[in-house]
Amino acid sequence: MASSKSSPLRLSLYSTLLILFLQSSGSHSKTNHAFSIKEATVQDLQLAFEKNQLTSRQLVEFYLEEIHRLNPLLRGVIEVNPDALCQADEADRKRKVKAPGSLGGLHGIPILLKDNIATKDKMNTTAGSLALLGSIVPRDAGVVTKLRKAGAIILGKASLSEWAHFRGNNVPSGWCARSGQGKNPYNLSTDPCGSSSGSAISVAANMAAVTLGTETDGSILCPSNNNAVVGIKPTVGLTSRAGVIPITPRQDTVGPMCRTVADAVYVLDAIAGLDYNDKATIEALKYVPHGGYKQFLKPDGLKGKRLGLVRNVFFSFENEPLYTEVFERHFSTLRHGGAILVENVNISKFLAAYNSSIDYESIAMAADFKLAINSYLKQLVVSPVRSLKDLIAFNNKFSNLEKIKEYGQELFVDAEATNGIGKKEKEAVLNMAKMSRNGFEKLIRENKLDALLSPFASISWVLAMGGYPGVIVPAGYDTDGTPFGLCFGGLKGSEPTLIEIAYAFEQATKIRRPPSFKH
Ligand SMILES: *[C@@H]1O[C@H](CO)[C@@H](O)[C@H](O)[C@H]1NC(C)=O
Ligand SMILES: *[C@@H]1O[C@H](CO)[C@@H](O)[C@H](O)[C@H]1NC(C)=O
Ligand SMILES: *[C@@H]1O[C@H](CO)[C@@H](O)[C@H](O)[C@H]1NC(C)=O
Ligand SMILES: *[C@@H]1O[C@H](CO)[C@@H](O)[C@H](O)[C@H]1NC(C)=O
Repeated sequence: MASSKSSPLRLSLYSTLLILFLQSSGSHSKTNHAFSIKEATVQDLQLAFEKNQLTSRQLVEFYLEEIHRLNPLLRGVIEVNPDALCQADEADRKRKVKAPGSLGGLHGIPILLKDNIATKDKMNTTAGSLALLGSIVPRDAGVVTKLRKAGAIILGKASLSEWAHFRGNNVPSGWCARSGQGKNPYNLSTDPCGSSSGSAISVAANMAAVTLGTETDGSILCPSNNNAVVGIKPTVGLTSRAGVIPITPRQDTVGPMCRTVADAVYVLDAIAGLDYNDKATIEALKYVPHGGYKQFLKPDGLKGKRLGLVRNVFFSFENEPLYTEVFERHFSTLRHGGAILVENVNISKFLAAYNSSIDYESIAMAADFKLAINSYLKQLVVSPVRSLKDLIAFNNKFSNLEKIKEYGQELFVDAEATNGIGKKEKEAVLNMAKMSRNGFEKLIRENKLDALLSPFASISWVLAMGGYPGVIVPAGYDTDGTPFGLCFGGLKGSEPTLIEIAYAFEQATKIRRPPSFKH
């Protein structure tokens, strides 16, 4: 953990040095950077650090100001880290004394974490709920340990759909009791989507350099879609879930949400890999490529890629000519980049594989959640709630603050009624595995696909059920200004291929533009 205990004397010495340095480089005010922070990529920022055009302190000050200015309206941030400036000073100090090559991949880069990702510092980790205020976690989440090691500055916590949207079906996307309703910066009256709403809102509106979200079923891909950001939903187990407030270990995954594919890849490089506190990372370690993911940021990454394009199921927009026009243009771009669009796949076979009147996901998830959340709450050092039962009681007691009458907590109540993994749950898990094998796996293998295409996050349920990865990239804007993306889904461990495709598509299209909203 970066030190927050520098003596005031040393701090003031740094500030003096910083001012001298700023004057000597001719920059007299914060607004007079030779370098513009807004929309800067991780690589831009690192280059600016290297060329002494920017310090991490200036960067953190910029984001804190933007949060102060924009967050009362957008509500993407729940809290800021009181130690962020200290961490910035520490990063600046290290940059001066260490050899450039010895610094971590995210050295001095401020990151915002979804509020279900634990930090053992002055911040709360609450999944947006008032029930966990004041609780103390035993340690940083596994991904946070890796971020600190990579040199990242923990800027704060992002808002979310409370409990990662696993409390009640009527809880609105982007709403949580702690920070209210998050807003889509592209159109304040449209859905920001969730559950990683705050991560998407904040990075879209330049309130952070990069962010982390989590996904169980759509929670990275959908808010990325709606806020014109790039989301990577990694293969389950590629990134550690230790210290992440859980829904189900079979589907939960932590991934980057950023303004560019390259930024997301820098973050993925920092967080992917082994963590003994999450056993799934041991098996998934085989997927992490030697040398990391940066090597797959190739402008010609589309060349020879076979992409499944199922028009009549995923790309049929009867009353939406804008989508048809935009996506047809993108299909041409993909072909132009050397991709082969495979259209003659047998989609009835695929759909039949998932055809069931029983909602297996809900059955398994309810039982998983009770076990996982109880175990998470038990290991907290201090907590006002110790079990799902306590959470339900808390919500009933503070039903006005948590809007229980309006938004409900039936997912909590249904989960509490389960009794471990019994016959019904085992069958549900087996059936989902079979659906994935006969559905997505077969579709990809029989057609030798590198990825399946979908507009928006519309294949997120397929990816969720099987633990498969997906990457979404901005693809266009609706008539009301709301963004939408193009999603690439692949088999487990296919991140290198998905990144090649997504990066080349992004470079060929460059659809993302910053939001312009009235405030
Ligand atoms: C964490 O929550 C407490 C209330 O329990 C609050 O006083 C404190 O300001 C919060 N921390 C931050 C960094 O916002
Ligand atoms: C697609 O698969 C279904 C059932 O799996 C089969 O009946 C049908 O003949 C196949 N269609 C084609 C065009 O191969
Ligand atoms: C799904 O199953 C139902 C009932 O078994 C059947 O009527 C329907 O045609 C099936 N749909 C698909 C897409 O296979
Ligand atoms: C925002 O979205 C709403 C609902 O779709 C729409 O009525 C409104 O015109 C949009 N605003 C702008 C500025 O496009």
